[in-house]
Amino acid sequence: MAGRLEGTVALITGASSGIGEATAVAMAAEGATLAVAARRRDRLEALEERLGNDTQVLVVETDITDEAAARGMVEATVREFGRLDTLVNNAGVMLLGPIVDAPVEEWERMVRLNLLGLLYCTHAALPHLLEAALSEPRRVADVVNVSSVAGRAARQGSGVYNATKFGVGAFSESLRQEVTRRHVRVSLIEPGATATELASHVRPEVLEGMAATFGNTELMTAEDIAESIVFTVTRPRHVAVNEVLIRPTEQER
Ligand SMILES: NC(=O)c1ccc[n+]([C@@H]2O[C@H](COP(=O)([O-])OP(=O)(O)OC[C@H]3O[C@@H](n4cnc5c(N)ncnc54)[C@H](OP(=O)(O)O)[C@@H]3O)[C@@H](O)[C@H]2O)c1
Repeated sequence: MAGRLEGTVALITGASSGIGEATAVAMAAEGATLAVAARRRDRLEALEERLGNDTQVLVVETDITDEAAARGMVEATVREFGRLDTLVNNAGVMLLGPIVDAPVEEWERMVRLNLLGLLYCTHAALPHLLEAALSEPRRVADVVNVSSVAGRAARQGSGVYNATKFGVGAFSESLRQEVTRRHVRVSLIEPGATATELASHVRPEVLEGMAATFGNTELMTAEDIAESIVFTVTRPRHVAVNEVLIRPTEQER
């Protein structure tokens, strides 16, 4: 059976681990050609190998907090494959902790990646997505922004992460209204707790508090989120899934 993404090109940021990596595997299974981007080239090359000969893959080692690098990533994709149908803005970092006495450097890292990086990638990709939306095989294109439950509800201990993900939500809705009649769909994916490397960057003393909250919860897997992303981008042309809020069953808030 032909994959539902045959003949299309997707660019996935943060594809070296977690949700981005699982999304690459799931989109490849639907026949998409892929550009996979992150800073850790070795992990991207391992992913390329895992995908095998059936999938065309471009590995892009890049730091998307650099505007020129983000633009270069998009241009390299279009140079290699001739088009861009789907941008998955997935790269992100979550550095939790109280606001009082927080290391300001952590805030800067989150704003630079979760917000500015996503904006740079989107800005560079939009002209190509608008063009792809005019052509076969789908005559529709997609921007998928990976936000979080933290983009819907602020909590003590995650103020600046909340601020970046609320920002992603506001930007997504504004962009959606701007381009939807031109058949570029803008979707927001809002996962709850998912087992990935994300929490490994949190300071140990903060991590202890998180263990108290999520210690007994059966977390989602990266594949669970990848499945909802594939669902979103494989809808018929006249259907736009604007928002997917997805939590582990046992997660209350
Ligand atoms: N896991 C959860 O519970 C959860 C819940 C809600 C939302 N999310 C969101 O899901 C997204 C993916 O996170 P994850 O859970 O899959 O965590 P992850 O495994 O830590 O993945 C984060 C990805 O971002 C990439 N990245 C980090 N800095 C980058 C930079 N400067 N330039 C380019 N890529 C960079 C990392 O690759 P390199 O280090 O190789 O660059 C990695 O591939 C994030 O936006 C996160 O906020 C996760």
